[in-house]
This record gives sequence, structure tokens and C-alpha cells, in this order.
Amino acid sequence: MLPFWTLAILLVTGAFANKESGKYQVILYYRVRQFMVNALGEGGNRIAPGCKSPCDMEAFLNEVSNVNTCDGKKPATGPDGKRILINDPDFKKIDFSKLTDDYLKDLNAAGKELDKSGFKGLLLNGKLFNGWSGGNSLPASAIDDTRDALHCQGKDPSGGHFDEIKDSLQAAADARRINYADYLTEAFKKELLRLNKDFEVVLTDAISHPPVDIEETIKKNAGEKGMAKNEEKIRQFVNNYNNSKKGLNHLAAIQEMQGLRNKLELPFGQCKQ
Ligand SMILES: *[C@@H]1O[C@H](CO)[C@@H](O)[C@H](O)[C@H]1NC(C)=O
Repeated sequence: MLPFWTLAILLVTGAFANKESGKYQVILYYRVRQFMVNALGEGGNRIAPGCKSPCDMEAFLNEVSNVNTCDGKKPATGPDGKRILINDPDFKKIDFSKLTDDYLKDLNAAGKELDKSGFKGLLLNGKLFNGWSGGNSLPASAIDDTRDALHCQGKDPSGGHFDEIKDSLQAAADARRINYADYLTEAFKKELLRLNKDFEVVLTDAISHPPVDIEETIKKNAGEKGMAKNEEKIRQFVNNYNNSKKGLNHLAAIQEMQGLRNKLELPFGQCKQ
């Protein structure tokens, strides 16, 4: 049995924080839905229960996505005074004939197709988790229990989309790491240029390590105005960023996703006789 891990935090850390990982998260939920329907039938499924089978990716996205039809605070109006409805994301830009079950296994390609719509990962929790007693989140135990159910029915537990669940969860966690590295780099550049607009930032290409090379940056700009007196502050930048509210939220989301991904390797529970 798994502890009560949930994916709630994935959904609450803001639209932009989810931009890169949102597409993998929605594929993840889609896979969990398929997995549950396969193992427990339509009645046992708890993901987007309002989308009746066959709930293909198009139907699923339309069911669970938050589509903005208004650009900015006020609805835009055309020259004839009529309201212009925009669709953000605009699912008409997606070629859904491509997004078959097989194609969705290539997360990179599927993600690019979803990107065409401007999808940012905004989901309607009420539609996604409608009637879920635990609230607006996906307990990992649901995935685990479903896998046990398949196992106990003598079905292949890693067949029915379990591998795809693990892959999309890993992709979402990795995308968040990239996101974090990007945010940190932007914040570092902004801070340095604030000190002296001629400072040059030295980047590394690592993702799991800070993407900025602090010591090289300090060396490169040695002697420039403002460097000597800010050196220590610059040295502390990554540490401070990691410990800021935004940093901590983001790192917690990565950790939760990775933890959930790792927990999906546990042995099966006991089958009822
Ligand atoms: C900041 O967080 C990143 C991501 O977890 C980590 O790789 C890095 O070592 C941390 N750096 C510091 C100075 O805490």
C-alpha cells in the first residue's frame, strides 16, 4: 500500500509554472483514465468520469481544459461592435487524427502537437476529479490499486498503460526541472544586469545543477564596476533562489512528482481469495 501521495500540488502552482510540464500532466491523466477504465470499468474510473468511452484525446481535452474565450480583462470587440471570442488554448490547431494511442507514447512528438494549441496546462479540477472523495487531486494509491486489480484479475498489470503512466510522470518531472533552470537563469540575469548592465552571465548547460556558472561569472566580470562589492551576494544567489517561496514551491512539485514516479515500482498487494 502506498502512502497518500497526491498530485494536487501539480495543479496549484500556477499556470506559467506548469507551461512546460502541463502537456505531460494532461497525457498522464489521460493514461490514468484509460488504465482505470481498462481495469475497473467505466464505473470504477475516477478521472474525468464525465467523458464517456471512447473518450479520445480530443474529447478528453475538451472535457477537462480551461479554455479562455476572453483576451485580457475585457472581452475584445471587433469593428462591428460584436464580441470577439478567442480560444486559448485553441484545440482546432491540433491535428487530433495524429494523437492516437501509439503516437501519444512518443511524449516529445505528442507534446509538440499539444503546443500548437497554446496549451498551458490549465485544467478544470471539478471535471478532472468530479466526485473524487479525496478532493481535487489524484492519489497515487489509485494507480497502485488499479495495478493490483489488474494483477489480481490475471491481466497484465504493466500492459494497460502502466508504462505510459510512468513515462509521462517522469517527463512531467523532467520538464519542471528544465522550467526551474530557465526561471533561475532569467532571475540571475535580471539581478546581474540590475547591478551593472554591462555584466556578462556565464551559463553552463547542466539542468540538475545551477544553469549559471557563478564563479566563472564573477571571474569574467572581475574589475568591472559593482563586482567587488557584490561578489558575496552573487555567490549566494542560487541558494537564496532555492529558498525563496517560488523556488521552494517549484522544488516541492518536482520532488512530489519524482517521489510519485519512484513509488510506482512497489510490489503488488495481496489479492482477495
Ligand atoms: C538549488 O536547487 C537545485 C535544484 O534542486 C540544486 O541542484 C542545487 O544544488 C541547489 N543549489 C544550492 C546552492 O542550494
